Amino acid sequence: MAAAPNGVTRTLTLPCEALAQDWEHLVLPLGMKERLVNHAVFSLLHRAMLHASRTALQGLLLFAGPPGTGKTTAARGLAQTVAVALASEGDTQYIEIDPHALPSDLLGESQRRTVHLLEQTLPTLAAKQRFTIVLVDEVEAFAASRRLASFETNPVDVHRATDAVLTGLDLLAATHPQLLFLATTNVPDALDEALVSRADLVVPFQVPTCEEAAEIVGDTLRELARRWPELHPLAGDRRALAAVAQRCAGMEGRRLRKVVIVAVTARPHTSKDPGKLTLDDLLAAADELAAAG
Ligand SMILES: Nc1ncnc2c1ncn2[C@@H]1O[C@H](COP(=O)(O)OP(=O)(O)OP(=O)(O)O)[C@@H](O)[C@H]1O
Ligand SMILES: [Mg+2]
Repeated sequence: MAAAPNGVTRTLTLPCEALAQDWEHLVLPLGMKERLVNHAVFSLLHRAMLHASRTALQGLLLFAGPPGTGKTTAARGLAQTVAVALASEGDTQYIEIDPHALPSDLLGESQRRTVHLLEQTLPTLAAKQRFTIVLVDEVEAFAASRRLASFETNPVDVHRATDAVLTGLDLLAATHPQLLFLATTNVPDALDEALVSRADLVVPFQVPTCEEAAEIVGDTLRELARRWPELHPLAGDRRALAAVAQRCAGMEGRRLRKVVIVAVTARPHTSKDPGKLTLDDLLAAADELAAAG
């Protein structure tokens, strides 16, 4: 989806159907989802009543981890889940911004766009609903490390843009306590330290354990089984799923889901009729993807 020049890619009023599936089908370590929901609910409901300098709360959660580990999906799913939890208190506005839309080759232009986003666009949008959740995917494009910027072609602009982000975030935190930022990154080292320090919670996302991997493969099979019910026995066969997962050590969630699709599309007859998929197909696909690295 193309970002508008102001960096906003989409706005939704939550809860909404488009995000309804994300949370339930995400497999995370025990207790992690609950912790995230608790934190977000607390922040949105109570931050306004607490003295900012005595809690150091900023209204920013940072999801950090390798590509394909579920950060964006978790952010969307969390927004939806929190909106449901807070529905009796008021509606939630959900905003996605694309920080890649902001940097510019023109000196000072990135900073101007950033200031406009944080000081005009977001406050205007946030005024529409009781709560606002903003997803900043790949936040390193938004608040690039000023320390590393000395090697960039235009370090002055990086400094100015990152300074503008930090100032803007501080201002928003002070004036809009019912706004929560969810930010994701898969290169935390490229992020400005001052942004990381502002996060109320830095949430590490990791590649799934063997058990979690089996659950993700099973969930992908269950999705196919909605259309081809013959797959239900395979999707529910714990031993079979564990055997597949064992061959997928170190694979992130995105690749684990692809194992099923690679298995289905490996042969003409399963491509045409995925209901004919077997455990052997899955094992072969797992080996193929594992060998591909
Ligand atoms: N822990 C997980 N449980 C279930 N599905 C997962 C998990 N991790 C990733 N996936 C699946 O992999 C796909 C990619 O996930 P997502 O886009 O959220 O990853 P990401 O961490 O944001 O990746 P990137 O850093 O590349 O943006 C989605 O289809 C998602 O459902
Ligand atoms: Mg992502």
